[in-house]
Amino acid sequence: MPHTLRSKIIGTGSYAPRKTLTNDDLAAIVETSDAWILSRTGIKERRVAVSDSSTGMAVKAAKAALKAAELSAKDIDLVIVGTVTPEMIFPSTACFVQSELGVRGGSAAFDVSAACSGFLFALDTADKYIRTGAAKKALVIGVDKFSRIVDWQDRSTCVLFGDGAGAAVLSASSGSRGLLASRVHSDGRGWEMLYAPGAVRPSRFEDGVRAEEPYIKMNGNETFKIAVRTMERAVTEAIESSGLTKGDVSLLVPHQANMRIIKAIKERMGLADEQVVMNLDRYGNTSAGSIPLALDEAVREGRVKDGDVIVFVAFGGGLTWASAVVRW
Ligand code: ACO
Repeated sequence: MPHTLRSKIIGTGSYAPRKTLTNDDLAAIVETSDAWILSRTGIKERRVAVSDSSTGMAVKAAKAALKAAELSAKDIDLVIVGTVTPEMIFPSTACFVQSELGVRGGSAAFDVSAACSGFLFALDTADKYIRTGAAKKALVIGVDKFSRIVDWQDRSTCVLFGDGAGAAVLSASSGSRGLLASRVHSDGRGWEMLYAPGAVRPSRFEDGVRAEEPYIKMNGNETFKIAVRTMERAVTEAIESSGLTKGDVSLLVPHQANMRIIKAIKERMGLADEQVVMNLDRYGNTSAGSIPLALDEAVREGRVKDGDVIVFVAFGGGLTWASAVVRW
């Protein structure tokens, strides 16, 4: 009987720029306060890129993941980058990462665009390559540089985001450990909740089209309510499709958008504080970088043990949402 192939995470890595922006630093730019930001979001500070590009952050995270996996770039046959702040419109950031790392030219490398759900969409896609035998070792990266696309005059959004990247190396494995279930969803009808038009000029042939302000726009309050409901459903869906129950979960690694969203999910799942990874106090919302950055920190802090059941859940612009269950 042939064994079922699974994707096993054999190494993780992450990177965040060195420059820290505290809530007090932001209060010098827009009308806000440390007390408001901390109580409404849980964020104390975030990192902002000064000289790091999206590619540079992705490459640093990927190098750390390869080192942890004890592999070299030559062993990789697939690179997928989740990002909505790519290096350029084209080529994909994955192409830049492939060449900078020295992954074999001719292997598949591409980006997926799913905002804050980007890493889980990339993981889901890579898993399908691995399960079908189309790839054996994949590099899955989530990176975003939102400092480039936030409106630094809009206090309702500029306080929320930070820059960062995380990466995971997946290997085809026939054992019982690895990705047990993964679910991705999109609903474009909700696109206006949360979007960034980007700095693309209308073409000379378009009639009456004005370039919109390129920055992020968000209906925070509505997004908050939808995020709580949707993420809770997504967690339940992933656990049920892996054939496990809530009681089997060792650790939840949620997208780091807002402490209040994470606490609501934690309470509804009946998890203890130490079963939930939270690092948004130090990084803010790093979009696609958020889940792999939180996972890598948890791994390096020794919070993840062999055989543990880890649940991932994300929600973001699109609208998009995704969840996954891994037996470590
Ligand atoms: N400092 C001080 N006051 C502020 C600030 C600020 N930085 N920002 C907003 N306010 C004010 C508002 O103007 C408003 O004032 P008003 O009542 O006089 O009009 C008041 O605070 C309350 O504003 P709300 O938007 O209702 O505040 P809320 O409690 O909803 O918190 C927040 C806002 C933090 C944005 C929250 O709604 C949230 O986290 N939403 C979800 C974000 C999310 O999950 N996004 C998805 C992922 S991101 C991605 O995919 C890219």
